[in-house]
Amino acid sequence: MNLQGRTFLKLLDYSAEEIEYLIDLAIKFKAEKKQGISHKICEGKNIALIFEKTSTRTRCAFEVAAADLGMHPVYLDPKSSQIGKKESIKDTARVLGSMFDGIEYRGFGQEIVEELAEFSGVPVWNGLTNEFHPTQILADFMTIKEIYGSLKNKKLVYMGDARYNMGNSLMVGCAKTGMHFTACAPKKYFPNAALIKECEKIAEKTGATLKFSEQPTDAVRGADIIYTDVWVSMGEPDSVWAERIKDLTPYRVSAEIMRAAGENCKFMHCLPSFHDLKTEIGREIFDKFGIDCMEVSDEVFESENSVVFAQAENRMHTIKAVMAATLAGDKL
Ligand code: CP
Ligand code: NVA
Repeated sequence: MNLQGRTFLKLLDYSAEEIEYLIDLAIKFKAEKKQGISHKICEGKNIALIFEKTSTRTRCAFEVAAADLGMHPVYLDPKSSQIGKKESIKDTARVLGSMFDGIEYRGFGQEIVEELAEFSGVPVWNGLTNEFHPTQILADFMTIKEIYGSLKNKKLVYMGDARYNMGNSLMVGCAKTGMHFTACAPKKYFPNAALIKECEKIAEKTGATLKFSEQPTDAVRGADIIYTDVWVSMGEPDSVWAERIKDLTPYRVSAEIMRAAGENCKFMHCLPSFHDLKTEIGREIFDKFGIDCMEVSDEVFESENSVVFAQAENRMHTIKAVMAATLAGDKL
């Protein structure tokens, strides 16, 4: 397997073997890091990290992974570069491509990261768009592999807004790797029909199944993983809160839902999460709507079955694997 020179824009572009290869590489890097074994295989390279939306995990993962691989990262924040306002993506791509060996992009439409990749001439990595969050899925699947030993045939139920980056990417990832995916939400929150169709075609070959349900307790029965995400994503207007709270409260991951799934079921979340009143937005929502948690109860979030911080740690190891494979694939 040699992924040298490839971009990493969405899981649809990668085969199951390539996805598993990146996860296994991340597991190897994690073990080496824990043993203090250095792996500076990208020494001397420079990478640009473009963030048009805020981030804790993804930014830190790219910066730490870059340092561990011997690279120099340059962070471009949501406000202080010319991107989009004074300079087009196509021009930015050609400028950055001439200075950097790789570019990470977090922002809005998937077409932006695709355009960056087309015109920069260097590997581009998707750090989250409205449509997809592929590096998150690698970390999630690495965590599932660490817990269960393999991905195939595991049942993952996604509760909440499944039309956005996390629901879409998990559905693609499950289809590719032969997992059983269920989106559980009111119908209007199911992924779009074209993407479902594409995933169904993939699933025919891998043995994956895709289901769509509006009934939480039925949907989660026998689940190995229940996954959720925030009800309102970055870049969406505050005006959608009332509708989301009304529509998605029955789909909150509560202790009752976890019990319906079975005692071994793990709880996953990409984070950040609104599970208590210790955030500004959490308190604002409490003042306005009187709810003290949103997509997951604090009890489930803090329970032994919750593996959210393992997922967060694995962001760094998997992002390292993506950068190492695409920038130094011939050294691996
Ligand atoms: N999960 C995730 O992407 O987190 P950040 O927004 O903090 O990067
Ligand atoms: N759906 C969330 C994911 C955050 C990691 C968002 O786009 O804000």
